[in-house]
Amino acid sequence: MSIFSFHYRLERHALRFVIAIICVAAVGGMVEIAPLFTIGETVEAAPDMRLYTPLEVAGRNIYIREGCYACHSQMIRTLRDEVERYGPYSLAVESKYDHPMLWGSKRTGPDLARVGGKYSDEWHVAHLNNPRDVVSVSVMPAYRFLKRTALRTDDLGRHLATLRKVGVPYTDAMIEHATKDAIAQATPGTDDAGLQERYGGATQIRAFDGNTGEVTEMDALVAYLQILGHLTDAAAKEQAAWEKAGAAGAIPTAAGE
Ligand code: HEC
Repeated sequence: MSIFSFHYRLERHALRFVIAIICVAAVGGMVEIAPLFTIGETVEAAPDMRLYTPLEVAGRNIYIREGCYACHSQMIRTLRDEVERYGPYSLAVESKYDHPMLWGSKRTGPDLARVGGKYSDEWHVAHLNNPRDVVSVSVMPAYRFLKRTALRTDDLGRHLATLRKVGVPYTDAMIEHATKDAIAQATPGTDDAGLQERYGGATQIRAFDGNTGEVTEMDALVAYLQILGHLTDAAAKEQAAWEKAGAAGAIPTAAGE
């Protein structure tokens, strides 16, 4: 009996066919679900992982609103060409606090997982204002309005509270001071002691859009772009460990080769 005649007969018995479908679909389900039981071992530990500040959360929301993820991924794969171009491949733990994750599935533009610190703030402002001013052949749209649009900050506490509901460990103090912290991060010279105490001394505090007067959407988006890849140095450490092991098959980075 060939497999085809077997199938032919199976199809004619509704109940048996339904049971067969369930069995076959269950295999697919197991393959997808089983790895989740080992997630504790799969996700690396990163004790130094820091949280997005309220200003960076606002920037991330703008990134989502403007659909930047439709052209940019935020996940460096383990392939050699990616690691050479973008840096150490992305670790699961680096997306731990990303709700929703922005790994993306399309790269009209480059991956942005480690773009933080690659360019100056001025470069980002000029680029977002009109990409053609800095990259003559760019097909990226211009986002001129960001610079002249005041950032809405009064609802940031609620954004943080919502993120806490899905597992991001924001404290009551962080939620309470969210609006103040967002303004302080983009306005150097204001009282930012509380901000640094809550989010760490390495928090970047400056007028990201080059204008200290008003906190704009440009401030928020650039603050977000500049922190990408710098929430934890777990990936850099893993890369260093690989290289130290002198490993045959160690993946070289652009800097380390
Ligand atoms: C239509 C697709 C498209 C959209 C939408 C888009 N980009 Fe781009 N982006 C590109 C392309 C193409 C490049 C490469 C050319 C260039 O640098 O302008 C690029 C480059 C970049 C770079 C420089 C990356 C590097 O490593 O050189 C950054 C940063 C960036 N985009 C941020 C954004 C942000 C933020 C948004 C949303 C506000 C956005 N992009 C929306 C296509 C897009």
